[in-house]
Amino acid sequence: MATRLFEGKTHASYYQKYRFSPPQEVQDLIFNYMGERLSKPYGFAVDVGCGTGQSTRILVPYFEKILGTDISPAQIEEASKANDIPNVTYCVSPAEEVPVDECSVDLVTACAAAHWFSIEKFYKEVDRILKPRGCLAIFTYIPDMEVHYKDRSEQLTKVFKEGQKMLAPYENEKVRLVKTGYKDLFDAIPYTDKKRVENMTTKMPMLLSDFLGLIQTFSMFQDFLKHEPKKAKEFIVTTEKRFLEIMGVSSTETEIEVRLNNVCLLASKPK
Ligand SMILES: C[S@@+](CC[C@H](N)C(=O)[O-])C[C@H]1O[C@@H](n2cnc3c(N)ncnc32)[C@H](O)[C@@H]1O
Repeated sequence: MATRLFEGKTHASYYQKYRFSPPQEVQDLIFNYMGERLSKPYGFAVDVGCGTGQSTRILVPYFEKILGTDISPAQIEEASKANDIPNVTYCVSPAEEVPVDECSVDLVTACAAAHWFSIEKFYKEVDRILKPRGCLAIFTYIPDMEVHYKDRSEQLTKVFKEGQKMLAPYENEKVRLVKTGYKDLFDAIPYTDKKRVENMTTKMPMLLSDFLGLIQTFSMFQDFLKHEPKKAKEFIVTTEKRFLEIMGVSSTETEIEVRLNNVCLLASKPK
């Protein structure tokens, strides 16, 4: 069954501000895979579960036409507000019913989103809309992050992991699919041409303030905030204080490096 957790307007505005684009290494993997199966120019790409558009914008240099879809009207409103690219459009629609013609799409992507979908229905829909040899790319980072700063990385990562433990009671059961590296989603892909690439570690420089904002986009934090708003806000204040103390700095505008572990599933529809 599909799960709906990203509906709030404030959550969507945090998304627009703090979510990052898919790492270059993951982008290269997808477009190299595509390049081995389809010839350029590429026509049409659909990014399903597009949120506020961070994962949709990476498609711009490659496609004539791009559609981002999401089940949450608040996320689509944010994505559309920030959109100034004429060949990109956004619309509210469930992953399981994409409003495009059959055999019309060269690439379907789902970034940090497919674990929320009703997966069998989604795969049926992908099969309906992909052109022969069209590609599917499902990818995500795994919540197992490391926080690096000078010689304080171990302590900072420990604080982050303690925070994750605290948020664990608010974790949706679908997050298990992410933690197990999308193995179940991979097995369910109905094509023989498919591969799963795991353990792609990527490094992302970001300000501590942005990292604290990113934590607040997590579905488990949002659920914590909904049920215990006072404690959730205190959690962020305490985490910020602990990070600053360990780093020995007074400003959250200090750059840290976040290391992410990514997994990517790639598949291609038969001819
Ligand atoms: C973690 S966000 C990822 C957003 C974006 N792809 C990114 O990389 O920042 C997951 C998104 O999937 C959307 N979503 C969840 N279930 C969905 C469904 N069944 N159909 C379409 N979108 C869905 C949510 O509304 C949310 O915007």
